[in-house]
Amino acid sequence: MFVSCWSSKGGSGTSVVAATLALLSGRETGGGALLVDLAGDAPAVLGLAEPSGPGLSDWLRAGPDAPVDALGRLELAVCEGIALLPRGGGELAPGARIDVLARLLATDPRQVVVDCGVVDGFDDPAATLAGAASVSLLVVRACYLALRRAVALPLRPSGVVLVEEPGRALDARDVQDVLGVPVVACVAQDPAVARAVDAGLLATRLPRALARSLRNAA
Ligand SMILES: Nc1ncnc2c1ncn2[C@@H]1O[C@H](COP(=O)(O)OP(=O)(O)O)[C@@H](O)[C@H]1O
Ligand SMILES: [Mg+2]
Repeated sequence: MFVSCWSSKGGSGTSVVAATLALLSGRETGGGALLVDLAGDAPAVLGLAEPSGPGLSDWLRAGPDAPVDALGRLELAVCEGIALLPRGGGELAPGARIDVLARLLATDPRQVVVDCGVVDGFDDPAATLAGAASVSLLVVRACYLALRRAVALPLRPSGVVLVEEPGRALDARDVQDVLGVPVVACVAQDPAVARAVDAGLLATRLPRALARSLRNAA
């Protein structure tokens, strides 16, 4: 399955949700998982050293001359059964290679989770991959500003992952009503999650409540 996670505003929790979905499917399904990082934070979120080699941006720039197996050679091991396709440096070139990438990801036998980061237009590579996935998840807080931006996008998710913070006036039903899309998971704003990320321990000590809330999201 090809899952995309994206947001309308930075700091929503997208990278944490995408990494968690990849970790869960890599551990709980036999076929393994691939986390594709379009946003650049995945190594830090997973507690890995910052990759120094080429990544997805370099593959996109190389165009059709890149050897067939070049994309696979960019992958880094996160832990058993879970690989990371790192972002690489520079711009993510828009264009036909993104469509090729979407096709390759759609036919990958592993569970593929793409961290698309913030989507703010229709032509950018993040939007193309976000829309190409069979499960397209908008990660959002019950924040008026983020919802306003999400509604204005020419891209509809298939489901919403709501990161719930105490004290918000809007709840899951409001989010669902505004976006016209089901909330498929509610993730609590949890200091244990922030601490695990800050300590680089998300991959090795995935907080239980986070795992439980995302187990059936995709
Ligand atoms: N469920 C959560 N509970 C507490 N902190 C979280 C949660 N999800 C994310 N965070 C923290 O919020 C910040 C932004 O998360 P991140 O996943 O990088 O957002 P985005 O990718 O949407 O910019 C990070 O410091 C992260 O540790
Ligand atoms: Mg991110």
